Amino acid sequence: MKTMTKLWATAAICGAVLSSTAFADPHPDAELIIEGELHIATRAEPPEHLGGVFPEIYSGWLFRTDETRALQMDDFDNPGLLFAERGEDRWELAEGTANQSCADCHGDVESMAGVRAVMPKVNENGELWSLQNYINNCRTERMGADAWGWNSEPMKDVTSLISLQSRGMPVAVKIDGEAAEFWEKGREMYYTRFGQLELSCANCHEDNWGRMIRADHLSQGMSNGFPTYRLKNATIVPLHQRFRGCIRDTRGESFAEGAQEFRELELYVSSRGLGLPIEGISVRQ
Ligand code: HEC
Ligand code: HEC
Repeated sequence: MKTMTKLWATAAICGAVLSSTAFADPHPDAELIIEGELHIATRAEPPEHLGGVFPEIYSGWLFRTDETRALQMDDFDNPGLLFAERGEDRWELAEGTANQSCADCHGDVESMAGVRAVMPKVNENGELWSLQNYINNCRTERMGADAWGWNSEPMKDVTSLISLQSRGMPVAVKIDGEAAEFWEKGREMYYTRFGQLELSCANCHEDNWGRMIRADHLSQGMSNGFPTYRLKNATIVPLHQRFRGCIRDTRGESFAEGAQEFRELELYVSSRGLGLPIEGISVRQ
């Protein structure tokens, strides 16, 4: 049984090699221009630490169909923007024992420009935190309010709003100094084989990007598009939920959203896309 599924997976990956052009820009003429104005690069020079495994790094946007790509080029058609809109109301809402809103301390949400691009990052206590951890820390420690669940509606709304302030800014996570040990662990995890199918992230996103896996066009697995609106789920999907989905596809045991392991993986995956602009809120299938 185990051998059969493994064989099936190998066949699913290898069989497709014949039917698709691998290792090339999937849409050489496609340019991501939002509302006809904001040009967002979807190709970049690979960061040095990747040691030449990619000729170029590509946004996942390039691997989607014409229809899905078009949705992201128009803010009215991009359903993810509704989450950011709701996030604006939450930004202004006073809550908790301190009866304060995000805006009371941070002012206009535009003050969050650049924040998404450097997440996850090491906090003043030496812990690696994702954007969600910073938000919840303000809620519980500064507002006296309840923490939001990682995949909850308010968290989706506010992370979408904050990410939008960095749209077009290149991923700029720090991977040296205090971040180095977390980055190393994330890197190790990326190359670890998971599940009954014994597949690592790299087996799919590094060895087989550009190929078809079942009906899906396999990308380089970049994180610059997150949070992303997934048509399949009809909601915002945070990056850690995507990780869970990918691990589930290997028939493996996953970690929970927000787990230390996933924050380290987030740092490493983000660093593979250093230089690609933040798209959040992107649209994917
Ligand atoms: C069995 C193959 C497979 C494995 C193993 C796998 N993924 Fe994926 N992953 C996919 C497919 C298919 C998609 C959806 C199409 C795409 O964007 O590549 C995807 C999408 C993604 C995306 C979203 C890209 C975007 O722009 O929307 C990220 C990020 C990602 N994977 C990261 C990972 C990480 C990290 C791991 C290891 C824990 C992993 N994947 C393991 C198949 C895989
Ligand atoms: C009582 C004041 C206060 C409130 C209310 C507050 N914050 Fe903060 N927040 C801070 C302070 C102080 C910091 C740390 C210093 C800094 O980075 O601005 C911070 C840091 C952050 C950071 C990390 C920024 C970075 O660059 O590292 C984020 C993200 C954030 N807050 C989001 C929110 C959100 C979202 C809300 C509302 C749900 C909120 N905060 C409510 C005071 C507050």
